[in-house]
Amino acid sequence: MSIDDLAALVRTIPDFPKPGIEFRDITTLLADPAGFSELIRRLADIARPLDADLVAGIEARGFILGAALAQALGLGFVPIRKAGKLPGKKVGIDYVLEYGTDRLEMHEGQVKQGARVLLVDDLIATGGTALAAAQLLREQAATVLLALFAIDLPDLGGRSALEADGIATAALLE
Ligand code: PRP
Ligand code: ADE
Repeated sequence: MSIDDLAALVRTIPDFPKPGIEFRDITTLLADPAGFSELIRRLADIARPLDADLVAGIEARGFILGAALAQALGLGFVPIRKAGKLPGKKVGIDYVLEYGTDRLEMHEGQVKQGARVLLVDDLIATGGTALAAAQLLREQAATVLLALFAIDLPDLGGRSALEADGIATAALLE
């Protein structure tokens, strides 16, 4: 499947969740077995040479792609969750979204000191979410090898912001 065929499986919904936001909806891609499989295959091809220790995925859509990618790479998966969901002792960070504010948390001790982490989400817009997740991982003394996304919205500058912070970034679609 070509990258254009993959892109065509992403649906754009105007004015969601707020007026002026063009929402890039990956549920249409996920529902297509060939498309989902191709997406994970392409992400795995980017990630495999990096020899990561684990995949960390950001709630909620980063769980879907991150867990599938972890399986494809033979790695474990660590969830980075929105506030109040994790039962154990946790560390957290507040961050600003394209359309609001939120908080991310992860279990303390789940990512070992020096772990080589692949950070995964479906999409990067302003980069606020991924920057917060990367900071949380760094606070656990992990190394973020790559922040990997299905979709980059380059006009919102997230990828540049991550790279300015020394985080290597890759995305399949723009
Ligand atoms: C979306 C998306 C990323 C984030 C990107 O998640 O899945 O996590 O926004 O935006 P940013 O680069 O401007 O930070 P959202 O916060 O909508 O949460 P959801 O996955 O739970 O729907
Ligand atoms: N997260 C932040 N901005 C988004 C957008 N435009 N589409 C889908 N998810 C998003």
